[in-house]
Amino acid sequence: MNVVIGTMRNGCVETLKQPRLFATVIGSRVMCSSKTDLPIVAAKLPFRVKLTGGRKYAWCACGHSKRQPFCDGTHRTNAPSISPVLFTIEKDCTVMLCACKQTKNAPYCDGTHFKVIFQHLASSVKNMFK
Ligand code: FES
Repeated sequence: MNVVIGTMRNGCVETLKQPRLFATVIGSRVMCSSKTDLPIVAAKLPFRVKLTGGRKYAWCACGHSKRQPFCDGTHRTNAPSISPVLFTIEKDCTVMLCACKQTKNAPYCDGTHFKVIFQHLASSVKNMFK
């Protein structure tokens, strides 16, 4: 049985840019992996981008892409269970695309990043008093 037990606390986490390392328990063995079924935060504020009407876009839903906010195919290796969100817009316009990857209105920002920022701040303050 495979069980994801959560974020690793000792060792590897501190060496990674994104603290999203999971340990998987298989029998009595524990395997560490940076692969996750959860998206990572690419940035804490949305991307303001100019889009062209009628063109197809693929919004990165996993947060691993180096071409944020758009997909570069990295999800295939780093988050295979997460697919990009394909979308088109009718006419040219400027939009705010989610960068925290927590929005409920993908690919658009819905303000959830404020919650992400607050959680990061709360975590930082908590760590100051450890
Ligand atoms: S950047 Fe994700 S909800 Fe705003």
